[in-house]
Order: sequence, then structure tokens, then C-alpha cells
Amino acid sequence: MNLMTKGVFITFEGGEGTGKSTQLRLLEKYLKSLNIPVVATREPGGTSAAELIRELLVNGKTDRWSPLTETLLHYASRYEHITNLIQPAIRSGQWILCDRYTDSTFAYQGFSQGVDLKIINQLNKIVTSQLNPNLTIILDLPIEIGLKRAENRGVDETRYEKMGIPFHQTLREAFLKIASDNPQRCVVINADEKEEVISNRIINLVNERYKLSYLDNEG
Ligand code: TMP
Repeated sequence: MNLMTKGVFITFEGGEGTGKSTQLRLLEKYLKSLNIPVVATREPGGTSAAELIRELLVNGKTDRWSPLTETLLHYASRYEHITNLIQPAIRSGQWILCDRYTDSTFAYQGFSQGVDLKIINQLNKIVTSQLNPNLTIILDLPIEIGLKRAENRGVDETRYEKMGIPFHQTLREAFLKIASDNPQRCVVINADEKEEVISNRIINLVNERYKLSYLDNEG
């Protein structure tokens, strides 16, 4: 099987300050070193229209949206992203590395903000057309460490970070539950380790799953 002709869809998930973006970049660098065509992207956002919706979600007061509106905004952003970036890239054989995707909506809006999971499931079917990741890497970290790291990052987009300790605790448990419910797709990685240790673990995982050393040898 030559995986170079078919795109692979990998998502990174986890709470605040778990190091997803850094790990995504390190995996992107590794894949590029193997000459694999790869697109790094994120949610909410990823296209110019979806980034406009992101602005509405990551800034402002914590209670600026009712939870269902917030869910709809995430799915509006996701529809733009899937239609205009993810689908075309996968079809043309590129690998997609996406910083957050549908698991974040189940964890944040469903488990932590209390939106009925059945509603999220329905929206998911309509918006994603069953486009599910091939692999989801869930970075797990005690919330105090994650929130401290996120605070030290000093970025503006702090709306979700401000949502309180119980919110973030539920979130961590939600990601672990999603992982145990989807053992084929999800792999939990302890994010309380050095950057390079985590990165090596992820690279080994991807190498093994997609036989990349063979691909590399075969050219
Ligand atoms: P980021 O800080 O990882 O870039 O993500 C932006 C925020 O958006 C993050 O705090 C989690 C939140 N989010 C949701 O609440 N639901 C979603 O479906 C997604 C994709 C992100």
C-alpha cells in the first residue's frame, strides 16, 4: 500500500496549555523531512472565513454566547474549514495535521458547557459528512500545570482559559473518556514530559502506524 497517494488526517487534542501546537509543528517538520506533503491547520479557524468566526469564539467575556450558539459557531467555522481546506487537501493526497477538531466540541461544548451530546452528534453528521481523523493524539496534563503554561504564553485569546477550574477538570476527564471510547483512533500521551520526549513518542507512533520508515526507504 502506498500511503503517499492518500492523505492521512491526524488531529491533536487536549486541554489548555498541553503543548498541542508545538507538537504539531514538530511532527510537521518530521513529515516534511520525509518529503510527505503535509498541511498544518487549526480549529476554530484554518481558512480566512473560519478565522473570522474564531475571533468571535476565543475573545471576549466567557458568557458572551449561550452554549448552543457557541456550538453552532464552531460548526460554522468547521464547515468552512472542511469544505475549503481539509477535503481538498486529503483528496489531493496531502496529510493534514489539525490542532483540534470535533473531539474539542464534544469535550468543551458537550461535557463542559452542557450541550446535549445528541445535538452535537447530529451537527457532526451534517457538517463533517463522516470525515473522521485517522489518528487523534490527545495530550494529557494536570490542569494546574496546563493553565499555568497557558497563562505564561501571554496570548490574547483567553476566553476559554478563564472558564474556571471545574470547567477544565471536566474537560480533562472528557478527553480521557473520548480516548477510551475510541481506542482505535485515539492515543493519549502524557504531556507532563520534556518537549523532545513527547515528540519522539509521537513520531514513533506515526512511524509505526503508517510504516513511514518503509515509505522513506522506498522513496
Ligand atoms: P486553541 O487555544 O487550542 O487554539 O483553541 C481555541 C479555543 O477554542 C480552545 O480554548 C478550545 C476552544 N474550542 C472549543 O471550545 N470547541 C471546539 O470545537 C474547538 C475546535 C475549540
